Amino acid sequence: MHRSTPFQFVSILVIYLAWHVKLGWGQSIETYNEFLAMTMSDMYPCSECHFVTGSECCRFTLRDFPTVLLFEQQCPPSLAWNDRLCNCDWPENVQKCDPLKDCTTQIAQTPPPCPALNLAKQCCLENIGQWYTKVNDTSFRFQNDTIAQICPLDQIFDIEDCCCVDRAPKVATGTSCKHWPFDITTNITDQLQNTLATDFPDEVHMVEGKFGEGLMLQPNERISIAEFTGKTLGHKGRQFSIGFWVYTQDADTSPTIIISNGDADVNPTLAFLSFGNTISGGVGTAGETRDTPTADYIFRVLRNDGWHYVALAYSDPFTRLYVDDVRPKFSESGGNIMANRCQLNIGGNNRHPLVIDELVMCDFAWTSRQIVELREANTIPFREDWQ
Ligand SMILES: *[C@@H]1O[C@H](CO)[C@@H](O)[C@H](O)[C@H]1NC(C)=O
Ligand SMILES: *[C@@H]1O[C@H](CO)[C@@H](O)[C@H](O)[C@H]1NC(C)=O
Ligand SMILES: *[C@@H]1O[C@H](CO)[C@@H](O)[C@H](O)[C@H]1NC(C)=O
Repeated sequence: MHRSTPFQFVSILVIYLAWHVKLGWGQSIETYNEFLAMTMSDMYPCSECHFVTGSECCRFTLRDFPTVLLFEQQCPPSLAWNDRLCNCDWPENVQKCDPLKDCTTQIAQTPPPCPALNLAKQCCLENIGQWYTKVNDTSFRFQNDTIAQICPLDQIFDIEDCCCVDRAPKVATGTSCKHWPFDITTNITDQLQNTLATDFPDEVHMVEGKFGEGLMLQPNERISIAEFTGKTLGHKGRQFSIGFWVYTQDADTSPTIIISNGDADVNPTLAFLSFGNTISGGVGTAGETRDTPTADYIFRVLRNDGWHYVALAYSDPFTRLYVDDVRPKFSESGGNIMANRCQLNIGGNNRHPLVIDELVMCDFAWTSRQIVELREANTIPFREDWQ
C-alpha cells in the first residue's frame, strides 16, 4: 500500500490551496479549457505555411514546388524543420528527426563564416552563416542557388534584416512596440511600425472608444496580423507585453475570443477570451506543463459592465497580470513563449460583438509605472535600454 508522507500531504495541500486562490473558487481551469476548445473549434483557420519539409528533415522547401531541390533551404545547424510550426525548431519537438543522424548534410557546430559580399544587394545572417542575394523587392536567392525564391505574400526582402519582412516600411526607430489605436475606419494599421493587418471585414464598425474611437467586430469577424506567424512573441519569447481595452457586459454569457493565435488544429500560445464580466487567458511558455498553457488568468472579474483594461507583462520566468488596477503576479516554470504557425487574430470567433481599443504589444516587459501610464494616459511605453 502506498502511504503519503506528511511532507507529501502538506505539498499537496499547498498546491491545492495555491490553485484555488489563483483560480478563484467556483471557476475552474476545466471550464477555461472547455471554453477555449469550443471557441477554437470554429475559429477562422490559421494561415497555410509556404514551406514544407524538404528532402531531409532539417531542410525545407517551397510548398508549391516540393520537388525542386534548388528551392531547398537548410535549417540552422542542429535544428530540424517543424511543419507544425512552419519554422526551424529544436529537434526534440520534431518527431523522427535527429539532425546529427538523419541529415547527410554536414552539421557544423559553429556556423560557417560569412563570405565577402556585395553589401548593396547581399547580406548574411552571421549566427547561422547563411547569406542571401536580393534579386528585387519581392525575391531573393539563397547562397549560391541560381533560382530565385519569392517572399510570402505581402512581404518584401529587407537587406538590413536579411529576411522577408512586412511590405510596409518600418517608420519609427527607438521603439519595439506596436500600437493599434483603432481610430480610422479605413486604416487598421499599427501606428508605430506600420504592421500590416489583413482579413478585415468589408465594413469596419467603429464605436466610441476609450481613447478616440474603438473597434467593433461582429460575430465571426476578425482582423489577422500575419507578422506573428511562426515567430516567437516578444524578444526571443522571454520578454513580452500586451495590453488592450475591452468592453464587457454581464449579459454576454458565451465565451468570446478577444485575441488569439490558434484554430481547431493549432493550440494557441496567446489567447484572451471574455465571458460576461470576466477575462481569461495569457501566454503559453515552454516550461508550462499543463494542457492549456495559456491559462494565466482564469475568470478574473472585471467588476461592472463597461471598458476594462487588461495587460500582461512577461519577463522569464515572471508573469505580471493587470486587470484594471488590480495586479496579481506569479511565476511558473517560465521559458520562451512558444511559437506556432498561426497568425494573430483579433476576434475571429466572437459570439457577440467584440469591442476593443488601443491594442499595444512590446518586445520588453512593461514596468508597473508604464502600465499605469498606458492605462491612464495612453502613453506608449518606451524601452529604457533601447539604443
Ligand atoms: C522579381 O524576381 C522574380 C524572380 O526573378 C520574378 O519572378 C518577379 O517577377 C520579379 N518581380 C518584379 C516585381 O520584378
Ligand atoms: C558560392 O558563392 C560564394 C560567394 O560569392 C563563393 O565564395 C563560393 O565559392 C561559392 N561556392 C560555390 C560552391 O560556388
Ligand atoms: C495608414 O496609417 C499609416 C501609419 O500612420 C500610414 O503610414 C499609412 O499611409 C496609412 N495608410 C492609408 C491608406 O491611409
